[in-house]
Amino acid sequence: MSDTGKSTSGPPGAPPADAPTKTYDASCHCGAFKYSVTASPPLDDPNAALVECNCSICVSNGYLLIYVPNERIVFSNGSIEQFKKPTFTEQALPQLIQTMSPSLSTPNTSPTPTSPGRWIITEFGKPSVLRWEAFDPMAALSAGGVLIRILVAGIAGVDNIQRVGGYPHPLAKEPGFTPGYDLVGEIIALGDAVPKGRELNIGDRVAALSIFGAHASHIVLPHEEVMKLQHEDDLLKTCALPLNYMTSWGLLKHSGVDLPPGSAILIGSVSGGLGTAMAQLIKAFDMGIKMFGTCSPSKFDYVRSLGVEPLDRNSPNLVEQIHALTDGKGVDVAYDGVGSEKSVQDFLAATKQDVGKVVVFGVMGGIAADGSKMLANVDDLLEAILQPPRVSFWALDIEYPKKKEVAEFFTVVKKVREGKLNPVIAKLMRLSEAIEAHELLIHGSAIKGKMLFVVDEELAKTHGI
Ligand SMILES: NC(=O)c1ccc[n+]([C@@H]2O[C@H](COP(=O)([O-])OP(=O)(O)OC[C@H]3O[C@@H](n4cnc5c(N)ncnc54)[C@H](OP(=O)(O)O)[C@@H]3O)[C@@H](O)[C@H]2O)c1
Repeated sequence: MSDTGKSTSGPPGAPPADAPTKTYDASCHCGAFKYSVTASPPLDDPNAALVECNCSICVSNGYLLIYVPNERIVFSNGSIEQFKKPTFTEQALPQLIQTMSPSLSTPNTSPTPTSPGRWIITEFGKPSVLRWEAFDPMAALSAGGVLIRILVAGIAGVDNIQRVGGYPHPLAKEPGFTPGYDLVGEIIALGDAVPKGRELNIGDRVAALSIFGAHASHIVLPHEEVMKLQHEDDLLKTCALPLNYMTSWGLLKHSGVDLPPGSAILIGSVSGGLGTAMAQLIKAFDMGIKMFGTCSPSKFDYVRSLGVEPLDRNSPNLVEQIHALTDGKGVDVAYDGVGSEKSVQDFLAATKQDVGKVVVFGVMGGIAADGSKMLANVDDLLEAILQPPRVSFWALDIEYPKKKEVAEFFTVVKKVREGKLNPVIAKLMRLSEAIEAHELLIHGSAIKGKMLFVVDEELAKTHGI
């Protein structure tokens, strides 16, 4: 990077004594810092070394940057030392980027809400246990960490189980954590020890499977856990992928079942985020699998639109219906997200005699109907229903973003980029509507695909919410 046209690397040194100069008045985004900057040559000089940064903030706002040494900045309000120590108060976040590369630009990071914050599950129970709290995300930035401004965050059935205290993870044993399993966001700061080889830069867009913490304005994640996106990637469609589509991919490819073309499956809770993802992946990757799915009758048309033959999830004749639809044979594999003794019994009876398999992927039936608590311990629930090798449980490897399986994530992303996979977005919500989102998860009746929080203000406006 050069500024004067004479230096070719790094920020500039002092200009020659006879070089033309011009002094400009400037301020930071919120106006708390006021200063003058002496540029040489002046900004309108053809030799002025204006830098075109390719980060999304600068591109979308049309900013050009100029680097100047500290001695050519004179503060009338504040000092250079204070300027380098931003705090995340009401309006201070936008200063962060300026502090890293002092310039005459005024970045607009458009956070929503303007003050960094996150939802907290204060105690296990109904959605009213959720509380919004302010926090300082910069304080959590470790040497190997990446500070992300969240643009879009996923809403999923797993949020429901986390809120009632049934999620089997050491960090979810006690309340006090932030839910939010997946996200797409923009890097706004990098820890000192993030390796250059990761090729992560401020302004890059990334996807992540955070497991916790995405229902917030910002999150800090270890650099190994972020998956770098292209700037053109569709933010909403891509945010649907890390949890739902990768779980469904794993259920089809890695859960110990064999599904050659011509196989038949029963997808439990097919109208939800996960079930929709499974049906769409089967179509997008031309797997040639015949699909049946259980759902509420009000969603039959939606489920048919996914290429799935719908069946009433509460029908007393579910097993008979499946056999009638499969020439009396039953399906090869049935995927069950309810995880009750009844659901497993029915799903097993709906598979091929002696060889058909049930893969349990959730225990929605173990959550009280009013969303207030777990009815039993998840380990006990699973112990009561699993019957290896025919009835097994499978869960997404939450470490996949760090492993070779991350390639599978990008295989799915590629289908979206090619327009061959169009993730169904059930509903877009503001982050401020977290309590309403959890209510929808409890009742399930409105869910047809993946629900998302649009955290970024500009994006939310673009989508009319
Ligand atoms: N194993 C894993 O790695 C993994 C990963 C992600 C999620 N999960 C689990 O998968 C399940 C589904 O997640 P999701 O994100 O797809 O959820 P979702 O988007 O909330 O959809 C769930 C769907 O299931 C139905 N439903 C809701 N409550 C139910 C109940 N008590 N009994 C029967 N059906 C019910 C509803 O549709 P209808 O009314 O149309 O039936 C609803 O649309 C959750 O249990 C979640 O924890 C597991």
